[in-house]
Amino acid sequence: MIDKLQKKITERKHVISVIGLGYVGLPLIDAICKQGIKAIGFDVDDNKVKNLHNGISYIDGVDGASIQKYVDADLFHATTDFKELRDSDVILICVPTPLDKNEEPDLGYVIRTTESIADNLQDGQLIILESTTYPGTVADVMQPILDVKAQAEGVEYYLAYSPEREDPGNQNFSTSSTPKIVGADTDDVLKTASMMYEQFIKSIVSVPSIKVAEAAKITENIFRAVNIALVNELKVVYDNMGIDIWDVVDAAKTKPFGFMPFYPGPGIGGHCIPIDPIYLSWKAKQSGRETKFIELSSEINQSMTDYICNKLQTALEVTSENISGKKVLIIGVAYKKNVKDQRESPAFPLMQKLLDEGVTVSFHDPYIENIMPSRQYPQFNDQPSSALSEEFITSQDAVIIVTDHDNVDYDLIGKHASVIVDTRNALKRLDISCSGKVVKA
Ligand SMILES: NC(=O)c1ccc[n+]([C@@H]2O[C@H](COP(=O)([O-])OP(=O)(O)OC[C@H]3O[C@@H](n4cnc5c(N)ncnc54)[C@H](O)[C@@H]3O)[C@@H](O)[C@H]2O)c1
Repeated sequence: MIDKLQKKITERKHVISVIGLGYVGLPLIDAICKQGIKAIGFDVDDNKVKNLHNGISYIDGVDGASIQKYVDADLFHATTDFKELRDSDVILICVPTPLDKNEEPDLGYVIRTTESIADNLQDGQLIILESTTYPGTVADVMQPILDVKAQAEGVEYYLAYSPEREDPGNQNFSTSSTPKIVGADTDDVLKTASMMYEQFIKSIVSVPSIKVAEAAKITENIFRAVNIALVNELKVVYDNMGIDIWDVVDAAKTKPFGFMPFYPGPGIGGHCIPIDPIYLSWKAKQSGRETKFIELSSEINQSMTDYICNKLQTALEVTSENISGKKVLIIGVAYKKNVKDQRESPAFPLMQKLLDEGVTVSFHDPYIENIMPSRQYPQFNDQPSSALSEEFITSQDAVIIVTDHDNVDYDLIGKHASVIVDTRNALKRLDISCSGKVVKA
């Protein structure tokens, strides 16, 4: 049966469905259709589906005109009707894997999607999870759901895992130019999944099992979280010794082996780095194991909020008791530079802490018109970005650079702010001259 699917792939007569058309799913659609392969996109969000049919892209780096071209050429079709996925040979799952209100893995999206796939399962379909999760998800969570249906209907299906390494805003690597890990539990399925990806991704890294692939992805993100925490901890220690961490990393990275630069900042953000390590911690705890590095990193990265606030107080020559009434402008609330993604941004706990201390907080972010509504920080729901002007900057007691987007007028800030707390070393890197006091944090 799998030979039939391989033949279809070789002849490029297969159809690939992508479930979840967000930061991961839409660039995948783009990469697939660019190679002339037919794709169906499924999302529960009716607006996204409508936008795509009208050639409107809502993801940076995916061109709306290209989507329109695929739709016009009958290469791409977006839908909210799951039954349409019955026509597909391969199904790629790119749904969210967040935390629930108890800060534990929420596999609800993966489970509901697997149930829908099971309800519509067709003989010979290859199903690949791309969402980030803990090792064992495919075998323990997805497979039992699909097996029940497959056995009842006497159909065969194949399972694989291929983590996504999408890096929104990265100008050097796209979906198709980033090596892609593919894991399956049999040689046949691994070969088939790899053949399928090879048609639109330059380099495929086949690994011996689904669990290795699941673990590889989560390891990459834990590695990042831990190293960012390390450099944040060193920042605090060195600052106390009068040493600038940025100078230290610049010097250390000249070693051509055995060192990789990571940079300090206001904490971590996005849908991946703050969340994925917790997936592994949770899974490890189920079998009585501890993940001390993960817990410590999370604690250190979160402590950057207090560190920045302390630096601000020192710069303003106030205490936490009398900072109330000050006006602070935050530069950048996206979680990283040059993107509009606000998820888990370290700007929000910082803004919340300042607000709790009676500070009037505004923000400027060229990528964000309004702060997206959230359960965690409802005080900032829909707050608009303030325009940068000489008058506005001068009216503020301090400016904190949280996210160093390239298209911010740092000269204007340097010229008119009386106190600048720079968490990204943005001003020094850009060689901006400042009339006020600059403090790194
Ligand atoms: N954003 C990244 O840079 C990135 C990088 C690597 C891996 N990942 C992982 O990829 C997965 C997806 O992340 P994302 O950033 O693309 O999320 P996203 O929120 O941008 O997109 C998810 C999409 O899934 C849709 N959706 C929600 N429930 C659905 C359902 N039941 N059926 C179909 N669609 C549904 C949403 O409407 C949304 O369009 C996550 O596991 C994430 O950890 C993300």
